[in-house]
Amino acid sequence: MNGRVPALEVEGLVKHFPVGSRFFGGRAVVHAVEDVSFSLAPGEMLGLVGESGSGKSTVANCVVRLLEPTAGTIRLHGVDITHLSRHSLQPFRRQMHIVFQDPYSSLNPRLTCGQIVGEPLRLHRLAARNELDRRVAELFDRVGLRPELRFRYPHELSGGQRQRVGLARALSVSPRRRQRIILSGELPNPIAPPSGCAFRTRCPLADRSAPDSVETVPELRDVGGGHRVACHLVASTGEGPRLAEEAVT
Ligand SMILES: Nc1ncnc2c1ncn2[C@@H]1O[C@H](COP(=O)(O)OP(=O)(O)OP(=O)(O)O)[C@@H](O)[C@H]1O
Ligand code: SF4
Ligand SMILES: [Mg+2]
Repeated sequence: MNGRVPALEVEGLVKHFPVGSRFFGGRAVVHAVEDVSFSLAPGEMLGLVGESGSGKSTVANCVVRLLEPTAGTIRLHGVDITHLSRHSLQPFRRQMHIVFQDPYSSLNPRLTCGQIVGEPLRLHRLAARNELDRRVAELFDRVGLRPELRFRYPHELSGGQRQRVGLARALSVSPRRRQRIILSGELPNPIAPPSGCAFRTRCPLADRSAPDSVETVPELRDVGGGHRVACHLVASTGEGPRLAEEAVT
């Protein structure tokens, strides 16, 4: 990085959200962001890629301090802004802009996502009262939303998850439309993340990397070619990511 101070430096960023009722059995914790680090030189661009709900927007919202990080450090042009007060943050705010994903959200903020999806069924009398919960759960499953998200409010979901709630609501009154699902396997539960590799419940190669993938978190390693990879099956060839077995031959 030719000795220049990075425009933005994020180190060990963690963001946890407590969810659920304070009264019934205590609150669970969503591990939205777990130990994210990156550094951006002036003029450099960075794309965050990941499944819906994997924490991309939460990282961005922590960086611009719309959310308070649970842990970690954020430096803007070398200045630690992680704990600056609203007032001291003002001069830095002008250097950060965010373009929101779904500014015109059509979801009623006072209803839970389950109520939102169930509403057309109820209004059009398409489901008997005792059948409603099951139908809503089915619709959530069809659009790839975890069932417990039914009890969350729209602001407690990721942008993509909110789009899926809108889709589920639309599907509720046109039951014949099919959704194509590309990734299979169980969505990792961010309240109880899988042991070992966090991606393993969705990874088509998980069997090949077991038992390592179950027992050990794969370390983020530099594999050359400007790539860093956290996967037990990827070898450090120094020439970019390559599956370990291919590297042997
Ligand atoms: N206020 C909140 N309270 C509880 N959980 C939240 C809250 N905001 C986000 N989450 C959860 O944190 C996780 C990460 O959400 P985030 O919005 O960062 O995802 P994303 O990667 O931007 O997804 P998308 O591609 O769908 O926009 C998700 O599991 C989401 O349900
Ligand atoms: S370690 Fe690699 S192969 Fe194994 S589950 Fe994780 S991503 Fe898949
Ligand atoms: Mg998002």
